[in-house]
Amino acid sequence: MFNADDLKKEFLADIESAASEIQLSDVWKKYLSKTGSVQKLMTGIKEVAKEEKKAYGQFVNEVKTWVQEKYDEKKARIEAFELEQKYRREAIDVTVPVKRRPVGNLHPLTAVKHEIINVFAGMGFEVFEGPEIEDDDHNFTRLNVLKDHPSRDMQDTFWLTEDLLLRTHTSPGQIRVMDSKKPPIKVLVPGKVFRSDSDATHSPMFSQMEGLVVDRHITLCDLQGMLDEFVKNLFSDAAKTRLRPSYFPFTEPSVEVDVSCFKCGGAGCPLCKGTGWIEVLGGGVVNKKVLANCGIDPEQYSGLAFGIGIERIAMLKYGINHMGKLFENDVEFLKQFKA
Ligand code: PHE
Repeated sequence: MFNADDLKKEFLADIESAASEIQLSDVWKKYLSKTGSVQKLMTGIKEVAKEEKKAYGQFVNEVKTWVQEKYDEKKARIEAFELEQKYRREAIDVTVPVKRRPVGNLHPLTAVKHEIINVFAGMGFEVFEGPEIEDDDHNFTRLNVLKDHPSRDMQDTFWLTEDLLLRTHTSPGQIRVMDSKKPPIKVLVPGKVFRSDSDATHSPMFSQMEGLVVDRHITLCDLQGMLDEFVKNLFSDAAKTRLRPSYFPFTEPSVEVDVSCFKCGGAGCPLCKGTGWIEVLGGGVVNKKVLANCGIDPEQYSGLAFGIGIERIAMLKYGINHMGKLFENDVEFLKQFKA
């Protein structure tokens, strides 16, 4: 009779060392498949004497059942183990703090520009943008800044050719709007402007926001009313404006506009240099000659215009002492303006 001990021993060693489903399937192939050693025992029945066939068959069946049971047990254990491993691998720790992506924020100049636009949009203003490269006509002549007039020297111009220049202010936007639109007009013209000028409070490139209103019966009072609304919204409810006489060739009368110091409330402090007032913009009633230059009858219509320096407003609002900071793009500096 066939001694199955060796086979059993070998099988036990093999099944013991099988540690994964793949190794287990090798064991299955070696013992339980059609070409496996248990099956070979089965076919060995041919060589067994007739009277022993029955006992041999029973014996082989027992071996087979034993091997199969051991195999099934191990298989169940390995499957459970592998499932456990899988759960472990795929486990999600819901208590781990979320990694936050750093969120950017608007540049203070952009934020202030949006804020200014929002205030005036509330008063019915539209936004128009003109080119940064202008010609003499739009930047100067039609704004009543005539050739050889000393007022040309008010702004240090970057000339590109005899006729072309980098716009020195957003006021040429006034001409472009009045050329393309008939009154009533209520527009804002934001944009970059360029002057050969550089120190703590000046930069060769800066931004302005032009305002232009043209309609019947527009006066300096309308300008002050709108600007009062503007400073209240931008600085504080208690902010007031003060107009001082000034000169611009394209407005008549012209004014410099001061806002009551939002730091000391008007009592006098270093920010307002003890005066209680801070200069924020220039403006005035649109010069009749400018209206006429754009084909608008100055006897029927009048207008107001103002030009706000966006950097200046941002510096005042946020207490920035050097204009260069607004252009250096130092992330640590810019992060402070998170809304
Ligand atoms: N354009 C003028 C400047 O840049 C500002 C201004 C605009 C003044 C509109 C009056 C009216 O200095």
